[in-house]
Amino acid sequence: MIATETEVILITGGSSGIGKSIGNFLLSKGYKVYGTSRTPQKYPDASFPLVTLDVAQKDQINTVVQEIYSKEGRIDVLINNAGIGITGPVEETPNEEILKAFAVNFFGPIDMIKAVLPCMRKQHKGLIINITSIAGYIGLPYRGVYSATKSALEIITESLRTETKDFGIRMANLAPGDFATDIAQRRFHSPVIKKSPYEQSYKNTLQLINNHVDKGLDPIRVAKAVFKIMNQQNPKIHYKTGSFFQKFSILLKRILPDRIFERLILNHHNL
Ligand SMILES: NC(=O)c1ccc[n+]([C@@H]2O[C@H](COP(=O)([O-])OP(=O)(O)OC[C@H]3O[C@@H](n4cnc5c(N)ncnc54)[C@H](OP(=O)(O)O)[C@@H]3O)[C@@H](O)[C@H]2O)c1
Repeated sequence: MIATETEVILITGGSSGIGKSIGNFLLSKGYKVYGTSRTPQKYPDASFPLVTLDVAQKDQINTVVQEIYSKEGRIDVLINNAGIGITGPVEETPNEEILKAFAVNFFGPIDMIKAVLPCMRKQHKGLIINITSIAGYIGLPYRGVYSATKSALEIITESLRTETKDFGIRMANLAPGDFATDIAQRRFHSPVIKKSPYEQSYKNTLQLINNHVDKGLDPIRVAKAVFKIMNQQNPKIHYKTGSFFQKFSILLKRILPDRIFERLILNHHNL
C-alpha cells in the first residue's frame, strides 16, 4: 500500500542505523517522515528532516510532538526507535549507567507515547511501534540491563494496548535480532576489571556479542517489517525480525524446560 502524502510518521533516532533505514524506506513509500537526533547538525545530508531531541528530556519530547502536530495537524505513526546498548556484569555496572539505559530505552519511549496519545485520541487514529529487541525476551549474560529495558517496554505495551483499545489507536512491538549498525560502538561497556571474578568470561562474551552485531543483517529488513505492520488492520502485539536462529530461540524458551533453555544459553556463550 502506498501512503497518502499527508500521513505523518515520527521516528525517534532517525540519524543512523535502523531508524535511518526505516525513515528512508517510508519516505520512498510516500510518507511524510520526521526523524530525530540529539545533534541534527551532524547529519546535513539526511533525506528527511531531523528535529533536535534527547528522549531522556521530557520537556524536549513535549515540544517536538507539539511542534510537529501544530505544523502537520496530525501524527499518524510514532516509531519509538531511539535506544542505546549497555553491557557488563550486573554486579559491576554503575547504577548511574543502569538509570541512563532505562531513561533512553524505557522512560523515553513511555514519555513519547504519553505525548502522542492525546493527538492520536483526537484523530481517533494512530499507530505506535516500539523497536525492542530479541534480547528483551531472554536474560542474556552481560546484557542483563539492556535485556531488562527492552523487556519492560514489551510488557508495558501489552498493558497500554488494553487501556487504549477504544481510541482507534494500534500498538505493536517489533523485536530485532542482530543488525549491522553503530550500536556496538556507541554502547556503554562496563570496563573489564582486572582480577574481577567476571574478567575472563565477560571479556569472551563481549567478543562474541560484538562479532554478532558486526555480522548482523541489513537494517532494511527492519524497515520492511515496520512497513508490513503499518499495513495491518489489526497488528499483533509482538513481532520479531532477525535470523532464523534468533527468532527460534524465543520459541525454544517457550517450549523447553527452564533448565534446558538456560543450558543452551550458557553453551552458546561458552560459559
Ligand atoms: N542493531 C541491532 O542489532 C539491534 C538489535 C535489537 C534492537 N535494536 C534497537 O534498535 C534501535 C536502533 O538502534 P541501532 O542499532 O540503529 O543503533 P544506532 O545506529 O546506534 O542508532 C541509535 C539511534 O538512537 C538515537 N539515540 C541514542 N540515544 C538517544 C537519546 N538519548 N535521545 C534520542 N535519540 C537517541 C541516535 O541518535 P543521535 O545519536 O543522533 O541522537 C541514533 O539515531 C535501538 O532501540 C536498539 O536498542 C538494535
